[in-house]
Amino acid sequence: MPVYSEKVMQHFMNPHNVGEIEDADGVGEIGNPVCGDMMTFYIKVKDNRIEDVKYKTFGCGAAIAVSSMVSDMVKGKTLQEALTVTPDKVATELDGLPKNKMHCSNLGSQALRKAIRNYAVNNKIDIPGLTDKEEIEEDEHACEA
Ligand code: FES
Repeated sequence: MPVYSEKVMQHFMNPHNVGEIEDADGVGEIGNPVCGDMMTFYIKVKDNRIEDVKYKTFGCGAAIAVSSMVSDMVKGKTLQEALTVTPDKVATELDGLPKNKMHCSNLGSQALRKAIRNYAVNNKIDIPGLTDKEEIEEDEHACEA
C-alpha cells in the first residue's frame, strides 16, 4: 500500500478544477498503458494564456492528485510556461509520489500537452517544440494501448 504525502491526500480528497469545458479551445486525452486509466484535459486560451483548465480523470488517487496539481500549476500561465510542466515537477509539487506511482504523474503533463497541441492545430499556429512530426506520431499511438 503506497504511502502518500499530505499534499497528495489533500488534492485527492478535494481536487481542484474538476470538470469539463464544453466550448474548450483545446482537448487532450491520454490513457496510461501501464494501468489503463484515462485522463482528459480541457483548456480555454486567451491572449496566449490558459484562462481556464478542467479535467476528467478515471484513475487512481495519485492520478487524481496529479490532475488537480497540474491544473493549479498551469491556470493563468502562458502556453509556453505550461509546456515546462513535467511529471517530475508535478511530483515535486505534490511533495513526492511513491515510486510505484510515479508513472501516474506522466498522465497529467501529457494530457495537458495534448490539449495545447489540439489548440495549436485548431488555430493553425505553430508552438515551437510542440508540433514536430515525431511527437505527433508518438501521441497518435499513445491512446491505442
Ligand atoms: Fe493508473 Fe495511477 S494506477 S494512473
